[in-house]
Amino acid sequence: MSGPAPILKVDKLCKAFGGIVVADNVDVTIDRGEILGLIGPNGAGKTSLFNLVSGVLKPDSGAIYLDGALVTGDPLYRRARSGVARTWQNMMLFKTMSVMENLLIAPRDYPGEKIGRLLLMTGRVRAAEQAAKARALGILDRLELGRAADANVTDLPFGHQKLIGLARALMNDGSLLLLDEPMAGVEGAAYETMQRVVREEAASGRAVCVVEHNVSFIKDLCTRAVFMAQGRILETGSVDDLLKSKVLTDLYFGV
Ligand SMILES: Nc1ncnc2c1ncn2[C@@H]1O[C@H](COP(=O)(O)OP(=O)(O)OP(=O)(O)O)[C@@H](O)[C@H]1O
Ligand SMILES: [Mg+2]
Repeated sequence: MSGPAPILKVDKLCKAFGGIVVADNVDVTIDRGEILGLIGPNGAGKTSLFNLVSGVLKPDSGAIYLDGALVTGDPLYRRARSGVARTWQNMMLFKTMSVMENLLIAPRDYPGEKIGRLLLMTGRVRAAEQAAKARALGILDRLELGRAADANVTDLPFGHQKLIGLARALMNDGSLLLLDEPMAGVEGAAYETMQRVVREEAASGRAVCVVEHNVSFIKDLCTRAVFMAQGRILETGSVDDLLKSKVLTDLYFGV
């Protein structure tokens, strides 16, 4: 036997919307502690791959394994419980809610979700609520946003809203973290914070996948990256090698 199973294994995944192929025999693995970069031009299928892995989309064929277990047919909520945490390209924050309320929506498992359990175990639900709140405050502190807990999300600067998107994903303490363009529009201190926390999450043992057009962010964080275009993985390798690849420079930078 070889080493431990990768946290994520995507095997010959295929998905098309009519004539648009978003996943064409995609194979990807991500190990514990690894930050994998996923790059490619607009429309390459990067977000679609996240949607397939997190259970938003069902593949036409192929398989997805999490921690060695087959999860291909599992719906979104069960995938989240299996340990897939993600952010969204357009953040998907609830605009009329506070930062804390946005975070409390997101824990991985919550006894109050089931009405029967809610009626039987009010005490346990309250304890879970307290634990979720403490976890949220801990995450906000790590992101240097502890003082923003009661603010309305839309009153925060854009970079901070992106950090709240990350904070919400971190409420799920699962083994796989998918980040869809975390740096888009983020600069200054928020950029440094994002970089630090993504590194810390990988160091804590999670497998992380980052979709990013910001190549220097990928270069700083990832040892390995995949390049995707038209639903296909065209190159896999070290970030340095990828950036030297003719396929990538032709298709991505258009030179
Ligand atoms: N639900 C859907 N129904 C139909 N077409 C879709 C759907 N989701 C995505 N697409 C199409 O699939 C292709 C891949 O989209 P996707 O969002 O995965 O690309 P991307 O690599 O994330 O691009 P970007 O860098 O612009 O975010 C695009 O042509 C898109 O229009
Ligand atoms: Mg996208």
